[in-house]
Amino acid sequence: MAQPMTQDELKRAVAHAALREIPDGEIVGVGTGSTVNFFIDALATIRSRVRATVSSSERSTERLRALGFQVLDLNDVERVPVYVDGADEIEPGGAMIKGGGGALTREKIIAEVAERFVCIVDASKVVPLLGRFPLPVEVVPMARELVRRRLRAMGGEPRLREGYLTDNGNQILDVHGLQIEAPREFEYRINQIPGVVTVGLFAQRGADVALIGGADGVSTRTF
Ligand code: A5P
Repeated sequence: MAQPMTQDELKRAVAHAALREIPDGEIVGVGTGSTVNFFIDALATIRSRVRATVSSSERSTERLRALGFQVLDLNDVERVPVYVDGADEIEPGGAMIKGGGGALTREKIIAEVAERFVCIVDASKVVPLLGRFPLPVEVVPMARELVRRRLRAMGGEPRLREGYLTDNGNQILDVHGLQIEAPREFEYRINQIPGVVTVGLFAQRGADVALIGGADGVSTRTF
């Protein structure tokens, strides 16, 4: 009997499937995380077709450069036709929780510029309702306790990600115990708290397409 695929094999499969979303001779936006690492490796197999990249983290930049890709400053780029990134959770409307790897701010910036957001996940990330995965919120350090009190009042249990600073020098609160029924509104409300840099809820700018790696292969969902 065939062995079931491991989670890494599922991630590798969706990462390879994402190559079909890459237009020739364009700039590719690259996310962050273990699934994206497989994507970067896959992208190296079509490197001559990629004009350059923009990257959402120091980690991804390093990996891209090591494989010979040019990594541009987003400010020097007019268009990003496609952005490929993972997610910690994705729900039926294409809204996601992201930032488990701490790169949520740069991810959100590139996602906003990108014309098409391709989310690559294994099937374990697909959920009916967001919130089981703790929601990351990047905060300016002096605002941490203010933001924590406000998030508690909104029904969550924020915990400081100990010993961690983002690429932007900020802290992260991981908010446990949420059931996010209206992701767009919730994203908006958290964005209103002074000191919040970015909330890892990607609802106002969600995915355009999700490639989902499961036991029966890679399936596609468009939003
Ligand atoms: C990085 O900050 C995150 O947004 C990642 O996209 C997310 O955590 C998924 O990572 P994995 O592919 O490692 O699960």
